[in-house]
Amino acid sequence: MKKVKYFVDKNYKISEVDPRMFASFIEHLGRAVYTGIYEPDHPTADDQGFRQDVMELIKELKVPMVRYPGGNFVSGYNWRDGIGPKEDRPRRLDYAWRTTETNEVGIDEFVDWAKKADIEPMIAVNLGTGTPQDAGYFVEYCNHPGDTDLSELRKKNGHEEPHNFKLWCLGNEMDGPWQIGHLNADDYGKKALEAAKIMKWVDPTIELVACGSSNAEIPTFPEWDRTVLEYLYEQVDYISCHRYYENFGNIEDFLGSFADMEKFINTIVSTADYVKAKKRSNKTMYLSFDEWNVWYQKKIKLTDWEVAPPILEDIYSLLDALVFGGLMCSLLKHADRVKIACLAQLVNVIAPIFTRKGGAVLKQTTFYPFQQVSTYGRGEVLNVLLDAPTFKTNLHGEIPIVQSTATYNKEDNTITIFALNCDQIDDVELSAELRSFGGLKVIEHVVLDGPDLNATNTFENPENVKPRNVDIPEVREGSLNIVIPKLSWNMIRISCNK
Ligand code: AHR
Repeated sequence: MKKVKYFVDKNYKISEVDPRMFASFIEHLGRAVYTGIYEPDHPTADDQGFRQDVMELIKELKVPMVRYPGGNFVSGYNWRDGIGPKEDRPRRLDYAWRTTETNEVGIDEFVDWAKKADIEPMIAVNLGTGTPQDAGYFVEYCNHPGDTDLSELRKKNGHEEPHNFKLWCLGNEMDGPWQIGHLNADDYGKKALEAAKIMKWVDPTIELVACGSSNAEIPTFPEWDRTVLEYLYEQVDYISCHRYYENFGNIEDFLGSFADMEKFINTIVSTADYVKAKKRSNKTMYLSFDEWNVWYQKKIKLTDWEVAPPILEDIYSLLDALVFGGLMCSLLKHADRVKIACLAQLVNVIAPIFTRKGGAVLKQTTFYPFQQVSTYGRGEVLNVLLDAPTFKTNLHGEIPIVQSTATYNKEDNTITIFALNCDQIDDVELSAELRSFGGLKVIEHVVLDGPDLNATNTFENPENVKPRNVDIPEVREGSLNIVIPKLSWNMIRISCNK
């Protein structure tokens, strides 16, 4: 058994966790909306066509906010196509995903769904084919109380009260040549600045997210972020980060994805702080990590203009769920700068929830780590001092075999440790020193592991991969020895009296 020294002190706090750290994303893409959250003919559909079986699982995930309507889709989307009587709405080609968009669901349906799901919307405007003025019109339609053409139109369409969306994205992945209406950093900076001005004139209470780099491989990273922030530093509140991971066949590299995510965050933080210094600004730029996940991009097969085709429907394995847990730790460890993170996406499209059209709904393997961290990773993130053996990777250098974070929730006096053991041979004993907390008592130790890393959940065997409870370690004078099995994801919940 390998040994890891693990030290947490209640006074060494990184930051409060912003609940928006557990946000997610629904794009008009594949079956995310149609036959995902919305399927009027489904036996569980409510009077507006929203699937209640899906809604229940979303509530289990405790997702506080959902980004909408894209993604790449938004860069060719006209929000007016999705309002008013459904029978009058146009069918359009969506260039981003080569599908046909029926526009049965638009902003007014989405807001109703979000209210029912107890979710706050995070809305993206089209800065690809869209103009700054149209971004302003969209804010006016949604947030202006009344007595203008667009706000009265919203009322006529059934929403007397303004939607009052607080968080808006200035486009999506505008650095990517794949984006409809892609721009270089200067052109995006100028266009987004004009959009930001108009949007904030219409509603000064909103917060804005600028498009940061879509990944770390793109040649413009991180120069894009510097340039964009130089234009937008005083107008925006967040810079976005997007990052996806996949298994290219080297398990060490894949398990070590958590290290890459931390490097990515640190680079964007440094870039933002450079601009802060250059501008002699007192304002700190926060990060909106509004797309992250495991995603097998090499498997994408688009169809020709189908309505809601089954695309980007990755089926996640146990190994994917382990890597996913490591990524969640990386986000929490940077909670001082990452205030928003959106798991991309929520239903069917690279998602923890998977549906059959007209049929059942399934929890993918990644459902579990997300649910655990979203439920118990609240409160304050504490600084974990780890003294662990390392393992070698090709992509990330030599990194610790354990990735971990810990949170302390003052409301119910609990400490929660999340830990990924990347060791492929040995269990690891964490000698955890928690002396600054009094009256320690372990509530539970939940492990996600198994003999087959490729195991998945299927409709035939929906609980093939799910966490199990293991024996609770004993506490002695503020310390405990926790055994985390080889290749496992762990959650250890501990109560304390101070
Ligand atoms: O989440 C899938 C896609 O990934 C989004 O549409 C895009 O923003 C990103 O490239």
